[in-house]
Amino acid sequence: MSGNEIRERFLKYMEERNHAVIPSAALVPENDPTTLFTGSGMQPLVPYLMGESHPKGTRLADSQKCFRAEDIEEVGDNRHTTFFEMLGNWSLGDYFKEEQISWFYSFLVDEIGLNPENLYVTVFAGDEENNVPQDDEAVAIWQKLFQEKGVSDGVARMGSEEDGAKRGMREGERIFYYDASKNWWSRAGKPENMPAGEPGGPDSEVFYDFGTEHDPAFGEHCHPNCDCGRFLEIGNNVFMEYVKQEDGTFGKLPAQNVDFGGGLERITAAALGESDVFKVDLLSNVIEQIATLSGKSYEDNLVPFRVICDHIRGAVFMIGDGVMPSNTEQGYFVRRLLRRSVRYADTLGIGEGKLADLAESVVETYQGHYTNLGEQKDQIIETIRTEEAQFRKTLEKGLKHFEKLAHGDITGYEAYILFTTYGFPVELTEELAVQRGHVVDMEGFKEEMKKHQEASRAGAAEKFAGGLADHSEKVVQYHTATHLLLAGLRKELGDDVHQAGSNITGERLRFDFTHPEKVSAEVLEKVEEYVNTAIKAGASVSTQTMTKTDAESDPTVEGSFWDKYPDEVKVYTVKDEAGNVYSRELCGGPHVENTGIIDGTFKIVKESSSSAGVRRIKAILE
Ligand code: ALA
Repeated sequence: MSGNEIRERFLKYMEERNHAVIPSAALVPENDPTTLFTGSGMQPLVPYLMGESHPKGTRLADSQKCFRAEDIEEVGDNRHTTFFEMLGNWSLGDYFKEEQISWFYSFLVDEIGLNPENLYVTVFAGDEENNVPQDDEAVAIWQKLFQEKGVSDGVARMGSEEDGAKRGMREGERIFYYDASKNWWSRAGKPENMPAGEPGGPDSEVFYDFGTEHDPAFGEHCHPNCDCGRFLEIGNNVFMEYVKQEDGTFGKLPAQNVDFGGGLERITAAALGESDVFKVDLLSNVIEQIATLSGKSYEDNLVPFRVICDHIRGAVFMIGDGVMPSNTEQGYFVRRLLRRSVRYADTLGIGEGKLADLAESVVETYQGHYTNLGEQKDQIIETIRTEEAQFRKTLEKGLKHFEKLAHGDITGYEAYILFTTYGFPVELTEELAVQRGHVVDMEGFKEEMKKHQEASRAGAAEKFAGGLADHSEKVVQYHTATHLLLAGLRKELGDDVHQAGSNITGERLRFDFTHPEKVSAEVLEKVEEYVNTAIKAGASVSTQTMTKTDAESDPTVEGSFWDKYPDEVKVYTVKDEAGNVYSRELCGGPHVENTGIIDGTFKIVKESSSSAGVRRIKAILE
């Protein structure tokens, strides 16, 4: 059975049951700024689940491209992927539990030939607090279906995942009640996490039993929701009839809907009796190619093979949907996918420039159904080739930087800078350090990352906090360039020039400063030259903590908005090896470690008035 075949059979099966087959929406949601990616089949259909009428009627089916960025670190086991296709069907106030459960069951058993003995199901155990009853109706439907095929239909109560691991399964049991942590579905997860206005409902999930041995590392006993790999969730029937209200209680949606989603690769894996989704043809084509390119075996290198395979496929689909590698938002994930692929390809000894070959086979596997991939093949492959080449340049610079640090153990902060500025995964830093007989402070690294994540979360809430769009590599480069710009302006225009505002993205800087009149083109040119000299000098940026009183009274320290700072402040200095100081200023934000990292030539594109006594400069790194 091939994945392409299962996809077509599912869509045909639903068409025969009067569903309109609709095309997959793009990976980047339209008109939905709340999420970066389409992560489930229902996402593009939310307005219709909420009651709006759909032009194609009340029965819909599709195979939706999905990307779950939060799973990027999970990739490596037998079932997690960032990109996947979700087969889906929906009832918009049309049929409900009886039809949905019977159809999906019959699709699995009669249509693609799964042995019902290998199917186990879970149902909602009820939620008293939110007044949602346990789903006895779904249980009765499942029991009837299992009885018809002459397989056991025992019912048991589990509760949470931990309860399930404690209790385990007994002979003849096939239907299990779990609580809302497992059998309630909404985009936000369990009921208490749902914001007002979010739809959700109890669900009934179907698991395939591969019969592999239980791994006690995942809990004392095995059960359908155990993560040891024996059971694989292959479909989720969500009975979406609730909506969270402003007062925190649940109300009913205008109609009882069904939201079904099942991972295409997982259903195919079950049809193959193969517990590893990477053995499904949609992925195994790439796995085989990695084996050829590396001369290594998949079985001995599961994690790198799986990561490369998953990430290249994800990148191909993203680029196919117009998401180019960049340092912001969705583009950043494409960049991460490709950078991680390069690193893992290197551990396998795959030569340079081969990711493009892998991308080509992804396109070939999928272009029958996703015709846009075939049409954009050349562009997709070229984008991946260029990104790999650029990253290799960054890696080279990072390696030089690493060599400067490598005379001793690597601190958490240094590992963090290597990661954020040079894209060095911490495993790489560790690998290189160990080769030189040093260690990396992993705890310290994790601390720094946590701080960084907190900062970027805060940054997301308040997008231009501190004037920075985020703390990505390019934004940090622009940030340091902004401070060099101010130093250049002060040199040319005098000490009355101070910062009045700043707004930085990965594409440009915008800087406001105090000055009473237009700045001449001649001066602007000199300022550009000043910044570019500092960049060329490869000056290092060091930070020093001091009391605000000391900093304020030090004439070499530039600063503004002093009142906003705490009693203890950070002052950085940009200084080259000859001792020339290019900039020294009060600032708590992230800077490049060395101005040599700043990629490009600094260019002022516009000088204009901002408000009375304040001028504004827009500049880019070309
Ligand atoms: N929306 C449901 C899920 O993603 C079907 O699991």
